[in-house]
Amino acid sequence: MPIIAPSVLAADFANLQRDVERINESQADWFHIDIMDGVFVPNISFGMPVLEAIQKHAKKPLDVHLMIVDPDRYTETFAKLGAATLTVHYEACTHLHRSLQHIKSNGMRAGVALNPHTPVHLLSDIIREIDLVCLMSVNPGFGGQQFIEHTYEKVRALKKLIVETGAKTQIEIDGGVNSGNATALLQAGADVLVAGNFVFKAENPLQVIADLKTAH
Ligand code: DX5
Ligand code: ZN
Repeated sequence: MPIIAPSVLAADFANLQRDVERINESQADWFHIDIMDGVFVPNISFGMPVLEAIQKHAKKPLDVHLMIVDPDRYTETFAKLGAATLTVHYEACTHLHRSLQHIKSNGMRAGVALNPHTPVHLLSDIIREIDLVCLMSVNPGFGGQQFIEHTYEKVRALKKLIVETGAKTQIEIDGGVNSGNATALLQAGADVLVAGNFVFKAENPLQVIADLKTAH
């Protein structure tokens, strides 16, 4: 069964506790938390105080996606805020190996996100060090964008790399995920589906999560 990670970016921030509790009650597995700095991406989402508030109510692991430059500066901070997985962007890390070691030595799982234009093969020398690869299926910065179809090829290429190297890496898909592409993504090799608008803007978010959970 896929791991389902609703993206809190699409929640109602005026009713954040209610929306977090809804996810607690759902079949979702993780909370996906999008942190944007207005530099790496052309948008600012929310920062530490909001994450602290989410963490107070969340009863599932926090999957934190950093869309920020120089993410190493905040590794300890996100560990203290309760991140289970901390994902940094390949494009934002000059010394990716060091960044990943830093994340793991702070007790978190280490993730690497790839922008749509970044080829999967760039991870071949480091894949065994990565707990999760987040394939961006939209350009990061905003929820509610259209899924980029080329992602399927990237999922297949990444799956091949993981199998060939014997890595234990999970493949996460982030951006424009819905019930229309979930099955094809899982068949291509995805393990984790992030969904923001598709979950939170639905009439019945719990049902939408249940449907994604049983996709195969
Ligand atoms: C985009 C974020 C995504 C976003 C997904 O920059 O990384 O996690 O919240 O939202 P949807 O599912 O609405 O595309
Ligand atoms: Zn994300």
